[in-house]
Parts: sequence; C-alpha cells; structure tokens
Amino acid sequence: MKIDTVSTKPIAGQKPGTSGLRKKTHTFQEPHYLENFVQSIWDGIGGVQGKTLVLGGDGRHFNDRAAQVVLRMAAASGAARVIVGRDALLSTPAASNLIRARGTDGGIILSASHNPGGPRGDFGVKFNTANGGPAPESVTDAIFDATKTISEYRIMEAHDVDLSTPGERTLGDMVIEVVDPVEAYAALMEEIFDFDAIADLFASGFTMRFDAMHAITGPYAKAILEDRLGAAKGSVVNAEPRPDFGGGHPDPNPIWAKPLMDLMMGPHAPDFGAASDGDGDRNMIVGRGIYVTPSDSVAVLAANATLVPRYQDGLRGVARSMPTSRALDRVAEKLGVDCYETPTGWKFFGNLLDAGRATLCGEESAGTGSDHLREKDGLWAVLFWLNILAVRKMPVKDLMTDHWQTFGRNYYSRHDYEDVDAQAAKSLMSELHAQIPTLPGTEEAGLRVTKADEFAYDDPVDGSHAASQGMRVQFEGGGRVVFRLSGTGTVGATLRVYLETYDRKALDDDPQERLKPVIAAADAIAHIRKRTERDRPDVIT
Ligand code: G6P
Ligand code: ZN
Repeated sequence: MKIDTVSTKPIAGQKPGTSGLRKKTHTFQEPHYLENFVQSIWDGIGGVQGKTLVLGGDGRHFNDRAAQVVLRMAAASGAARVIVGRDALLSTPAASNLIRARGTDGGIILSASHNPGGPRGDFGVKFNTANGGPAPESVTDAIFDATKTISEYRIMEAHDVDLSTPGERTLGDMVIEVVDPVEAYAALMEEIFDFDAIADLFASGFTMRFDAMHAITGPYAKAILEDRLGAAKGSVVNAEPRPDFGGGHPDPNPIWAKPLMDLMMGPHAPDFGAASDGDGDRNMIVGRGIYVTPSDSVAVLAANATLVPRYQDGLRGVARSMPTSRALDRVAEKLGVDCYETPTGWKFFGNLLDAGRATLCGEESAGTGSDHLREKDGLWAVLFWLNILAVRKMPVKDLMTDHWQTFGRNYYSRHDYEDVDAQAAKSLMSELHAQIPTLPGTEEAGLRVTKADEFAYDDPVDGSHAASQGMRVQFEGGGRVVFRLSGTGTVGATLRVYLETYDRKALDDDPQERLKPVIAAADAIAHIRKRTERDRPDVIT
C-alpha cells in the first residue's frame, strides 16, 4: 500500500487545552487540520513505530471519518497495532481501561466531551499515555511544539477499514483489532462492585432513571444496569448515541439534564437518578427530591468507600481539584488520610494515582474516579452510589442528611459567565491578580478577607510546577470564592466563579441563599457584572 508524504504548514492555535485539542467540528474538517495535529501527536511522543495504540470516540459527528484518518496515519508511521472500539466507539473511561488492560503505548480519544456535537458543534482529539490517563503537560507541550514546526505528514492511501464487526483486519503491516466497546469495561465494573447486592436492590423494587443524553454511555448503561443488574427495562433513557446528541448539550448538570431534574423533583420520581456526558466520563447524581453536588458526591463516596469490595481495605488518600468544595477534606481528616489539592484537569491526578498516594479523586465539574483507571468515570460513579445505597438501604436524601450531620455542609455553587469577550475576561483576571497582595484584611461587601492567592501546584511526585491556576479568596467564617477562566471552551472566554461556605448546624438551606454574602463579595472584588456586562451568570450549577 502506498504511503503519501504530504507537505503542510503549521496551523496556528493547535494547543491542547485542559483536555486535548477542542475546536469547532468544521475547523477540524479544514484541509490538513486533523492530519497536522495527528502527525504532531506522533512527533511529540517520539513516533509510533512498532507501537500499539487504542482508538475510539464518543460517536459525535466526524468521529467515523476522523478515526479512518488516524488509522491511515498510524499505519503510515509504522504503528504495529491499533485496538479500536466497534464503529470507532469507546467511552473515555473504556478507552482508558483498554490502554491499561492491554498494556498499550497509549491511545487517541475522539471527543469534545460534554460540548455539543454536529456540524456546527465541537470536535476534539486527545492523546492518553500508557498509564491510561490524559497526557501530562510535558507531553502536550511537545505536541504543541510539533504543531508549530510541522512541514509534512504521512498518510496511507487506502479504502476505509471495516470497523463494524469485532475481529482483526490489516492496513499495510498494521493490525487493526476491532473490539466490542462495552465488554472489557463491564467486566472491570463487575470486579470493583458488589453486583449481587445491587441486583438484589433492583429486585426489591428500587427504581432509577439513567439519562444517557444520546451520548456514548447509552450502550454501556443498558448492558450493565438493565441487562446485568436487572434495572427495569427503560430505566436507561436517551440510550441511542447520535452524532449530534439529539441536538442536546450532553453535559450532566441541572441545566442541561433538566428533564431528569424535573422528574426527580416531581411526584413521580424514581428512587435514584443519574446522567453522564458526551464521552461518558462525567456524572450527575440525583436522589428523589435532592440534587447531589459533585463536590458532595465525591465526599460521600470517600466516606462510604469501604462498602465497595475494591475499596474495602480503605483509601490510601484522596484528591480534589482546587475549585472543588472542601467537603472531601473533612472526610479525609476523619479517615486520617491525605487530601491533595490539584489544579483543574484530570491529568493532574495521574501521578498521585500512579504513585499510590490517592485512591479516589473528584472535581466540581462532575468528574469522579479512582485508581481503577486514569480518567474520571461516569458510570463507575453511578455504580458506586448504587453499591452504597444497596448496603445502606436508605433514600439518597437521608444519606445526605446523615453525611452533613457527621461532617457539616459545604454549601457550594458555580456561576459561569459564558462567551465573554476574551479581552474583558483577561483584564478582569489581571486586575484581580494585581489586587491579591492587598486583599487580606479588607472587608468586601461585609465579609472580611483572610487570605488571597493565585493557586500554583507543585506535583509531589515528579516535582513539576503548574502556575496561574486560578485566584482564590478566603473569608472569615469559612467562605471562599475562586475565579478561573475555563480551559475547555471554544468561543470567547468563560469565567467561572466558584462559591463556597460552610455550616455545621443549618443543613437544609438553599445554597444560592446561603451563598449570597459570598456572591456579593465576589462581585465587589472582581467587578464581574461591570466587566462581563452581564447582570447574572449564564449557568448556575
Ligand atoms: C475537562 C477535564 C476536567 C476538568 C474540566 C474543567 O472536563 O477533563 O478534568 O475539570 O475539563 O473544565 P474547564 O472548562 O473549567 O477548564
Ligand atoms: Zn467528558
């Protein structure tokens, strides 16, 4: 088969963000765009000669075309084998699992996670290393450098490879192994959790709804929840993955999963509700009449971890991203284990998990996971909750009350200002930065500032340093606000304002009410309304 060497020029802006390179789908479809980036991945990781890779994506528009390009480029650069999910489908956690379980050299995940898909939506390409996790900054920097100097790429001339049925094919000298996307992942879940206890729970009449949001987890959730665990048929809704996610925004939060929220808050709510995102790594947990924030969710999982077979001997440590609420810290303190605070982005957990310093990790952005993989894992979190509920036999609402009675409650909310003028967002952050040294001791909208800093992280395992990871301001009485610009958006800038306050006694207040003083102080400090020209956030979670 013929290998073409195609001349090209660097394309500006191919810098991998928080989670791979994400752009508008039509940008990825421009001439050489995808090819330049894929070649830069190969160059940035020292080539793929003789290597084995995993490949799959969340099924969004262009997934199938992009997969064929990646295969032809892997073959042209001498890869030995690529393990591909059927129809080029793999959830992000399932891809992470295959990379690890099969001892490969890494993998390519085609996804823009929770961003909408379709011709006018977003597309993304991410490289994960041999540990199954998103490439660390040293690797993404090398990839980005390669995009700046690229002058040619290699691609094999060939027809599309048939990816519709499991089995082995070849492309030139490269073996393509098509696998069932669900099988290995489902087997892993069965090793981790007490499937018998969960099956008994369903058999006793426990009801749930899992909203797959027309994204990748539909087939996984059906196979595991309905077929293996006996949840009633139809418990998994919107289970058919679609290239445009049915026109929806596959982000599992109260805004984008509103139908599920409405059901769970209404008179016909099942016992338990959950949802996952475009590529299956995020999760949302809702009980009858109660939404569980992601920050609380990871704290509950940590507090109850020993009820799950895999974690029955306890946790070695836990970790959360900096803007995530400190509910987890309170559990860690009680358990007597370390709680690490990392920058936003799952990749920062990788070293802690590899080194055995953390077993469980979570982020406010609806990601929860453990050392079973090196990605966050949506369905795993749902199964973890089911395992806990199966043992503790109480409604989610009572479980939360019990948790807060033990640890106190970290009231928490995130306010997002989306598609803000990039310059305005930048100057808001730089003015904030300039104020940091003089903030402590001042009073802002009635709240006394006790501490203010810009978060930076020194990785305790490899010593790498991550600077400028968001501005945090702490108030007397335990309140906190964090300001950060999103690293995953594709238009303008998104300002995220993370708000938190703590109470030991009043456990049932409305978070937005309880957070009013912190919200006012945040605006007094950063002049959010003036700078963004918005009088309220676009999204509140
Ligand atoms: C992705 C990453 C997460 C991270 C999130 C933050 O989902 O996988 O680890 O928390 O992005 O996104 P942001 O838009 O806040 O940068
Ligand atoms: Zn995702």
